[in-house]
Amino acid sequence: MLDLATDKTHDESRQGEAYAILAGGEKQFRKYFYIESYGCAMNFADTEVVASVLMDNGFGATPDAESADLIFINTCSIREKAEQTVRNRLTQFKSFKKHKPGLIVGVLGCMAERLKNQFLEEEKLVDIVVGPDAYRTLPGLIEEAEGGQKAVNVLLSRDETYADISPVRLNSNGVTAFVSIMRGCNNMCSFCVVPFTRGRERSRDAASIVRECKTLFEQGYREVTLLGQNVDSYYWVDEKNGQRVTFAMLMEQVAQLSPLLRVRFSTSHPKDITDEVLHTMAKYDNICNYIHLPVQSGSTRVLQMMNRTYSREWYIAKVDRIRELLPDCGLSTDMIAGFCTETEEDHQKSLSLMEYCRYDLAYLYFYSERPGTLAARRFTDDVPEEVKKRRLQELIDLHRIHSLESMQKDVGKTFKVLIEGTSKKNEQELFGRNDQNKVIVFPREQYTKGAYVNVKVDRCTAGTLIGKVTA
Ligand code: SAM
Ligand code: SF4
Ligand code: F3S
Repeated sequence: MLDLATDKTHDESRQGEAYAILAGGEKQFRKYFYIESYGCAMNFADTEVVASVLMDNGFGATPDAESADLIFINTCSIREKAEQTVRNRLTQFKSFKKHKPGLIVGVLGCMAERLKNQFLEEEKLVDIVVGPDAYRTLPGLIEEAEGGQKAVNVLLSRDETYADISPVRLNSNGVTAFVSIMRGCNNMCSFCVVPFTRGRERSRDAASIVRECKTLFEQGYREVTLLGQNVDSYYWVDEKNGQRVTFAMLMEQVAQLSPLLRVRFSTSHPKDITDEVLHTMAKYDNICNYIHLPVQSGSTRVLQMMNRTYSREWYIAKVDRIRELLPDCGLSTDMIAGFCTETEEDHQKSLSLMEYCRYDLAYLYFYSERPGTLAARRFTDDVPEEVKKRRLQELIDLHRIHSLESMQKDVGKTFKVLIEGTSKKNEQELFGRNDQNKVIVFPREQYTKGAYVNVKVDRCTAGTLIGKVTA
């Protein structure tokens, strides 16, 4: 999934622009790499770390796979379908190899970590397999592959955070950026492969995060999204002065860099989001009023089997608290239909929870068993596929009503919008987002990317607010 990440519908033009800058005019590189990414925002942020490691070692980036000497694919394992997409893409690369015998193909990320050497056996065209904690070793692995050997490094680390690496903003719009604040996950939700592919949770040095955000602001960026699988468990103790930094404190430090720098974050685990975080959000205008709070199921029995460690009631109480402290906060979620043993009654509870929360946005999936997870080992994937799909469709249909309702409620209101670029559908229009993460399109007039404008909404579609800049 690439949720908060990119809005490709509105801004595909930015890619060419960024690569032109990266190519550095006349500078010649020893080889060109092409990299494409799948999965969550953290994976996309990792791609920027990989680009940095490669560029520091004399490689140049190209947006064109066919002309590249090295092709990397940064992969996701979260659902079977995500892995299938990667396999299909690798098959396409096969034809490139026929025409270019020296071409090196590397698989990075979660699928590399999950399948390890098996990848080399299954996908004959792959030369390099690198897990998420081993990107510093890429230059050495490329050398091995250039020498005709297959190269693998899937070692997970307890302390790697790439804190000292300045990510190269490969596909950037120059306005919004991701900043990784932690890696890994300790939660062991029974359906989830992430703890196995990303390893133990570790937080990144707070000072390095604040420095990165400051540099981004100085470079003209106006929004940072602080990223982690569970940002609310961020915790750092400064070695020199012994000062502890919680997620709320970190967010505050970033917000204080400038009132012109917007701060977003993802993802919050319902068991960990604190009042301290909500109060900090309320205190700063530039911390966006938007929370992604994945619930996964509306049934306490299923939540227990999922090892989410909260009940339906606990989750509802969190939502109530958010709405009490941040009345206009945007709220989104993730839900899984058809988890092991899920009954019609459980499914109805998911629907009724959705009715209660009326999410602005929801990422809805049907359960996909992942090898090696707790659920795969302990439970039977016993909900038939057609039932999973029907339940998923019911969740989608209900959510459509809520999201349209949420958009319609905004018609007539005025929002502060950070301009991110040109609307894909119309050159004469710009687009940006409001505090609650909704996309707003409006006439270009004299306005430019990176500026803030107040836009009065006069109509909407299911996914976009449409309006005009007011004085
Ligand atoms: N860390 C986040 C959290 O705790 O909610 C979620 C990260 S996960 C990368 C994104 C979403 O993928 C999850 O919230 C879940 O809804 C979905 N997901 C994870 N494993 C899945 C599976 N085996 N089948 C279907 N959906 C899955
Ligand atoms: Fe997966 Fe749960 Fe960790 Fe999220 S919190 S990454 S769903 S194990
Ligand atoms: Fe992200 Fe997919 Fe890995 S969702 S952490 S890239 S399994």
